[in-house]
Amino acid sequence: MKVTVLVMFLAIFISGCDKGADPREELAKRQKIPGYREARIFCTQCHRMPDAVQHEPAAWPGVITRMEGIMQTNKRKVPTVEEREAIIGYFKTNPN
Ligand code: HEC
Repeated sequence: MKVTVLVMFLAIFISGCDKGADPREELAKRQKIPGYREARIFCTQCHRMPDAVQHEPAAWPGVITRMEGIMQTNKRKVPTVEEREAIIGYFKTNPN
């Protein structure tokens, strides 16, 4: 009896873990989106790579402008106009 309950729990647990895509596949998909490279270079200078679903597409330019201010204050590498556009493009695709 105890074993049956344990097996059931394990089955539920394992099937729960199985849901959703493989994280490696997810990452590979993101890496193909234009602007990922630039976002990775600039946005991980201070913290981990932000999740694009954190903001609505329309809110990203404002967030990035704020981040550029922090980059200047902290004397970090600031993106060029082209790099900035690429970064905004990446976050706006909401790749999740
Ligand atoms: C110079 C350091 C620095 C860099 C580079 C940087 N950030 Fe940040 N970021 C911060 C700090 C400090 C905070 C927390 C304070 C705040 O939110 O203003 C933060 C918070 C955030 C947040 C959470 C707050 C919110 O508004 O949702 C997001 C999202 C974010 N950063 C996105 C980015 C993106 C996108 C880039 C690349 C363009 C970037 N950051 C680059 C320092 C940085």
